[in-house]
Amino acid sequence: MSQQPSAAPAPATVTVARRRDWWRDAVIYQVYPRSFADSNGDGMGDLEGVRSRLPYLRDLGVDAVWLSPFYASPQADAGYDVADYRAVDPMFGNLLDADALIRDAHALGLRIIVDLVPNHSSDQHEWFKRALAEGPGSPSRDRYHFRPGKGENGELPPNDWESIFGGPAWTRVADGEWYLHLFAPEQPDFNWEHPAVGDEFRSILRFWLDMGVDGFRIDVAHGLVKAEGLPDLGGADQLKLLGNDVMPFFDQDGVHDVYRQWRHVLDEYAENELGPEGPSAEGRWWATGGRIFVAEAWTPTVERTANYVRPDELHQAFNFQYLSTDWDAKELRAVIDRTLEAMRPVGAPATWVLSNHDVTRHATRFANPPGLGTQIRTAGDRELGLRRARAATLLMLALPGSAYVYQGEELGLPDVVDLPDEVRQDPAYFRGAGQDGFRDGCRVPIPWTREGSSYGFGSGGSWLPQPASWGELSIEAQTGVAGSTLELYRGALRVRREQADLGAGDAVEWLRAPEGVLAFRRGEFVCVTNTSGESVTTPAYGRVLLASGELTEADGEAKLPADTTVWWTTA
Ligand code: GLC
Repeated sequence: MSQQPSAAPAPATVTVARRRDWWRDAVIYQVYPRSFADSNGDGMGDLEGVRSRLPYLRDLGVDAVWLSPFYASPQADAGYDVADYRAVDPMFGNLLDADALIRDAHALGLRIIVDLVPNHSSDQHEWFKRALAEGPGSPSRDRYHFRPGKGENGELPPNDWESIFGGPAWTRVADGEWYLHLFAPEQPDFNWEHPAVGDEFRSILRFWLDMGVDGFRIDVAHGLVKAEGLPDLGGADQLKLLGNDVMPFFDQDGVHDVYRQWRHVLDEYAENELGPEGPSAEGRWWATGGRIFVAEAWTPTVERTANYVRPDELHQAFNFQYLSTDWDAKELRAVIDRTLEAMRPVGAPATWVLSNHDVTRHATRFANPPGLGTQIRTAGDRELGLRRARAATLLMLALPGSAYVYQGEELGLPDVVDLPDEVRQDPAYFRGAGQDGFRDGCRVPIPWTREGSSYGFGSGGSWLPQPASWGELSIEAQTGVAGSTLELYRGALRVRREQADLGAGDAVEWLRAPEGVLAFRRGEFVCVTNTSGESVTTPAYGRVLLASGELTEADGEAKLPADTTVWWTTA
């Protein structure tokens, strides 16, 4: 009898597929470390504070955490002035704390994205100190932009560029030369034409990739390369042009070469390290492979933003056009369509963001009349702002792509518009004429408990004073309370995980809707947002999954109150 070779045993069935490209529909939570949780009672948040609260973020249901800078820094711009890119500032802890944070996050199924600041260093960075010490003509000056001044005695800046924070973009040093700083004078711009700068940043990337991070948010990603010869703007109103035009220092095509090189480095690591072979506590499978870059690139149009996320460059770019859109159905629909259209040809996911550490929180933006921009100094109608913010969040979380949530927005926190001047720290505030001077209002430490010296932020007060209303907005006060903003976020993120159509794909199917209302379908999911100031009647599309306000349904119709979003499933 001839023997047939026996068949190899069938591989064990894999019941849950690994999700590749996790970032295409990820919800990423921004932690502003100095204002999240303070573990040692010095009034300043720290990495150990973040680590101790990771279970809160896991339970909230986000996929990843982006941490604003925690590197060694004199804190002239809250850590966006880095003195040593490979060290943790003692204020926040040390490298062992960073390591523990990354490991714990991974064990909970959360990814960690760190903030990289390549446009400028601190003036206390070794390179800059050496450039100052070695004087004009020394090679160490070439790693920054040093120039002689104009005028008879070099007493005028080399060109007419202004700092984003106000005043000239140049500062003169004792030996008479000037150096360029697009932000504060303590933040000298690197010269990206110098090969040492590129080498150094590729090495810094590797340092943090070896530490196990899952990605980088790139600060001022549009600023690295300056137009040849640093040409004058020639009398243009620079602040008006910012974000509306390509500038000789912003959004120059040369920046894309830098990101193509970085992509090579990242891709070496992409599938380097897989996560635990099994589901995390709540049954999610994950892998640390597939690390990403997200660009902070303020460009004139979403089409130019799309250039940063071409297949061989970065993975995501913040959608600031969306963040800057007023609460208006027509305008929202236009920016959503334009974003999706712009991203489709490059195959990148759209991103959506409403708040971050640089803009007035959306609960306050929407409390004010439209057209005021992203820096608002008036509280407005708080109740209206919160209602709209909740509706805006459900709309954002229903769109195809990845969404960013800024710490505290899940509590419906407003901006603190009445901080006394003497506690302010935003460098732009002190330079007066520039943009962004009021960013401290969105950076006030978040409340964890109803009571306590800083509402549970820490045992030693908080670096910016918290308003008396913070206790009732705390995580403790909102947990388990039906209808609270925190439970709305938790519910939304849970539904988003359960409903594959949410966040997926690159298109929405718009449905007919009354004036002031946005309605769209994605597969079995329908989202309707009423931006108008009055209640509207729409078809009841199926079973209500979640709503930001109270709606009533009868005879196949639904009545949506003003400023409300509803999620339905037709399944
Ligand atoms: C980015 C940061 C901002 C910082 C600036 C300079 O815009 O988000 O906080 O002040 O860059 O680094």
